[in-house]
Amino acid sequence: LKAVILAGGSATRLRPLSCTRPKILFPVINKPLLQWILEGLVKNNVNEVIMAVNRQTEIAMKQFRTRKCGVRITYSCDPLRKPLGTGGPIKKAEKHIGYNASFLVLNGDIFADVNYREILRMHEEKGGVATIALCHVEDPSRYGVVELAKENRVKRFIEKPQREDAPTNLINAGIYIFSPEIFKYIPEGRMVSMEREVFPRLVEEGKLYGYIHNGLWVDIGKPEDYLKLNEMLLDSIFIQQKLKFKGEGVKVNKPVAFDKNVSVGEKSVIGPYAVLGENVKVGRNVFIQDSVVFSETEISDFASLEGAIIGEGAFIGRRVKIGRGCIIGDGVKVGDGITLSDGVLVCPSKEVFENVSAIKCII
Ligand code: GDD
Ligand code: MG
Repeated sequence: LKAVILAGGSATRLRPLSCTRPKILFPVINKPLLQWILEGLVKNNVNEVIMAVNRQTEIAMKQFRTRKCGVRITYSCDPLRKPLGTGGPIKKAEKHIGYNASFLVLNGDIFADVNYREILRMHEEKGGVATIALCHVEDPSRYGVVELAKENRVKRFIEKPQREDAPTNLINAGIYIFSPEIFKYIPEGRMVSMEREVFPRLVEEGKLYGYIHNGLWVDIGKPEDYLKLNEMLLDSIFIQQKLKFKGEGVKVNKPVAFDKNVSVGEKSVIGPYAVLGENVKVGRNVFIQDSVVFSETEISDFASLEGAIIGEGAFIGRRVKIGRGCIIGDGVKVGDGITLSDGVLVCPSKEVFENVSAIKCII
């Protein structure tokens, strides 16, 4: 089984952190999403992956030292400034994928514990052109919504309907098995949306099936979902870590995840739900809760973070307060005593020397 991973989207909802890294390299409990995905593929005996990327993603991925877990990775790149959407990249990789067997396609921003082999089994049993994994969610309007008929045949597929128009709560999980026949349904050389063009046509012809997945599933594309995923994993997985600090009176409220070489100064309170990346340096009397801090960042004495995401290599000054929903880009410096109220976004490498009290993006 070969897999194609779609990883060339623009990730606008995760800006400013996605300005400097593609979604597929976002750390999830201190491990890049890509690595979680590769490990899941290996468990399902998939060891050949085609990364459908854009130029920036390809460069970032090649620079990044992800453990490939024994998977052979090749790149198929969209033309410069001409994104191919979710369908075009599959067509582009046609020869590479080949015509002998069904193959797997994954949206590259999904964290899930899906059994790909089970979907393949259902696909072979039903004999359609495509079988897509489906999940139940509370608000289906942000996704592709599916109505199923008898025998798991898809009766309707509507991409991102108004909430009141969504016929069900069953959504497209962004995980597909396709037969090689799918190539006939995707026009060549232009942007194609699987969701808006191809799936509706397959529905008309009765060739689209749905496999219901009841396990863990999160699209990390929105900051609140990204934080929620980290939180869910903190609750559910065992994290091996040494929690001994030189500083006296450090209070660690579990669950937390500390990567290698994290230091914490005296009387700081970390957690619950704090994820600290490699080499993160936390000063004295710091308070960190419900937050993710990427690697190489320094948080100075008396600072407090609540519900925030702090990028890589940032510097947070003394007595700084960072509120819920704030996203601080890589390499940002926040000066001493600054307060950033809820929902402030700071672009990479900026220096912030005044308080910000309204939701705003500092460019
Ligand atoms: N190579 C390439 N080129 N990849 C792309 C492009 C492109 O032009 N556009 C998007 N992708 C990749 C993204 O990187 C992502 O991994 C995947 O395709 C899906 O794109 P998103 O932008 O994340 O779409 P979405 O989350 O709004 O909606 C999709 O996923 C939902 C599940 O999370 C749709 O497939 C929905 O139907 C689905 O419910
Ligand atoms: Mg998405």
